[in-house]
Amino acid sequence: MRILLTGSSGWLGRHLAPLLATRGHEVVGLDVSPGAATTIVGSAANRDLVFQVVAHHGIEAVIHAGALHKPDIARFPRQAFVDVNVTGTLNLLEAAVQAGHPRFVFTSTTSLMVRDDVRAGAGQAGAWWMDESFGPIAPRNVYGITKRTAEDMCRLVSRESGMGVAILRTGRFFPEDDDTHAVPSGPNLKANEFLNRRLTVGDAALAHLAALERIEGCETFVLSAPPPFAREDAAELALDARAVIARSFPDAEALYAKAGWVLPERIERVYDPAKAERLLGWRAQTDFAAILDALRSGAEMPFAHDPEWISPVLGQLPLRSS
Ligand SMILES: NC(=O)c1ccc[n+]([C@@H]2O[C@H](COP(=O)([O-])OP(=O)(O)OC[C@H]3O[C@@H](n4cnc5c(N)ncnc54)[C@H](O)[C@@H]3O)[C@@H](O)[C@H]2O)c1
Repeated sequence: MRILLTGSSGWLGRHLAPLLATRGHEVVGLDVSPGAATTIVGSAANRDLVFQVVAHHGIEAVIHAGALHKPDIARFPRQAFVDVNVTGTLNLLEAAVQAGHPRFVFTSTTSLMVRDDVRAGAGQAGAWWMDESFGPIAPRNVYGITKRTAEDMCRLVSRESGMGVAILRTGRFFPEDDDTHAVPSGPNLKANEFLNRRLTVGDAALAHLAALERIEGCETFVLSAPPPFAREDAAELALDARAVIARSFPDAEALYAKAGWVLPERIERVYDPAKAERLLGWRAQTDFAAILDALRSGAEMPFAHDPEWISPVLGQLPLRSS
């Protein structure tokens, strides 16, 4: 298929574009910043450009990964989030429908499920169990609000046109340090997050490929590494996560201690990707067991950690609309 990939210069895009090519797809990359996988430098918010690209490049499917996201909140006005994340998504959806294309993959975020009470800690029943049925949805910032609205646009356009749309609520896969959590930091924090809320960028790319190839109708999916817990563990996870972890991984504490790392004392939310496995046949290849395997064997960690990484969009300040 000839695929329009937005955000092709970004962290996900630069991993996804070569994966699509190895599966025989032809990629037309659209990004406001130049990059190896970017064919057209321009904005998804530019409606004329989007319609031109979709019509003139023989685009057969769209993967819309380009966005302003959480770290951009400090750098861009709210209007830019509306322009890029809402208007940009609507432009792409309508251009795809006009061209009669059957498939659209939208990169959304688990962040839109993180309400103030979720962010504050565990719920009354323990760790929040967050699958696609989690609600009510009440995003706490402009990133989540615009991604949620973009999701609703996807649902509306799919309902009216019949276009197949996959909405991928993706957990974290960024390589830089977390901008809010300091302890534990660096690779220790990332390793811990594979228990409940992270996946590798390679697995995120594979999920997009699976969605592109398998989607029917309009479906929403939570993407994260498979958690080594069951729903029944939720109460104990919020009180004593180490006890739960020890039941599945008796040597985790010792392996961590050897690395000078600490396991989380409490886990207050768990992203559940079971639906993506069921409907898309996708399961993240890198999970917490793989982290422990690497600690055991002394191999390199199976995830990227790069404190220096910054989004290519920052080179575009102030954001161009054309
Ligand atoms: N990084 C994460 O942990 C994470 C987690 C969940 C969801 N996501 C989502 O995954 C997608 C990719 O994120 P990423 O981590 O690769 O971010 P990134 O910032 O590295 O890449 C995003 C790309 O989008 C481009 N872009 C911005 N505005 C654009 C516009 N108007 N038109 C076209 N391109 C534009 C940027 O230049 C950048 O190259 C985003 O939709 C993001 O919301 C990311």
